[in-house]
Amino acid sequence: MADTKILSVSPTDPDPDAIEQAAAVLRKGGLVAFPTETVYGLGADVLNLGAIKKVFEAKGRPSDNPLIVHVAGTKQLDDIVDEIPDKGKTLGEAFWPGPLTLVMKRTILVSDLVTSGLDTVAVRMPGHPVALALIRAFGEGIVGPSANLSGRPSPTAASHVYDDLRGHVDLILDAGPTVIGLESTVVDVTVDPPVILRLGGLTRERIEEAIGNVETDTSGEHGVRSPGTRHRHYAPRAQVILARMGDAAAFGAVLREQRQLGKNVGCIVHSQLLSHLESGDFYRVLPSSMEIFGRYLFRTLRELDALRVDVIVIEGVEEHGLGATIMDRLRRASQG
Ligand code: TXA
Ligand code: MG
Repeated sequence: MADTKILSVSPTDPDPDAIEQAAAVLRKGGLVAFPTETVYGLGADVLNLGAIKKVFEAKGRPSDNPLIVHVAGTKQLDDIVDEIPDKGKTLGEAFWPGPLTLVMKRTILVSDLVTSGLDTVAVRMPGHPVALALIRAFGEGIVGPSANLSGRPSPTAASHVYDDLRGHVDLILDAGPTVIGLESTVVDVTVDPPVILRLGGLTRERIEEAIGNVETDTSGEHGVRSPGTRHRHYAPRAQVILARMGDAAAFGAVLREQRQLGKNVGCIVHSQLLSHLESGDFYRVLPSSMEIFGRYLFRTLRELDALRVDVIVIEGVEEHGLGATIMDRLRRASQG
């Protein structure tokens, strides 16, 4: 494929002609990057195996990491999900459309290619007017992994998709930056109590308010259960060092050490640690509101990469609510 076309659309009231163009690309087996409230997704027809193969190729995604299917209503849901457990129903009613992905038993219509051979499928109804309009215009479910190169921070703007996947995606629907900036929470509801396989934009606390106790297993060590979490993730090109929140002495020591090694240092901080920076350091200050920290995190990692820093030192956050999701991403980014 030669060209990647970018179409600007209103995030709240997208032009039906633009949506129809995008749906036509999907019908022909092409790839369309689309905005959701979490991050941009790389869309393809869930029932077209050629299109699914192109998604794995474009992202450089290992074939043992299954895809999420995006639906807009019961029509698409019934085609791909065999059985919705009671707690899945409760969660769907409470949080869809929204940043929640449910793992459920799949129907025979869903190919092994989509699920990496699992007998389950991950499904999400995104809370974004453009994504919903696209799925409705297309009619069937669309797969939608994050529209980044595998391992890189997820894309929170159309330009991130373009930077990573130019030439591999036919069309990008650009509806501006995404609001949540972190991926959806993945919950396996085939077991009771349900298990959170990936922390995300919907907090554990809110899930437990709706259905009671849930377990969390984001290790990926339990084999097929949380396949995606085995792979390195969310990493900029620079090395990431995670610093303890508010620990000025440790932060100062890391910075001195890296400068002595001759490294170009970039920092992301949200507290008084700012006073330890020197002129010449690249830095970004994020607000201590976890909603806003989450919204800007991936974008900020990409910005520091663009400044060609060697090392990014990031101040950790308090590990509850969205802070738990953010710490999960920071740990993964700093591994490897
Ligand atoms: O917010 C999001 O979820 C974004 C937007 C575009 O919707 N999508 C996204 O997709 O983050 P992706 O493919 O980057 O992450 C999907 C996660 C992976 O960790 C994958 O391993 C897991 O969901 N997953 C998919 N199918 C699964 C299944 N059947 N069982 C367990 N985990 C599954
Ligand atoms: Mg991803």
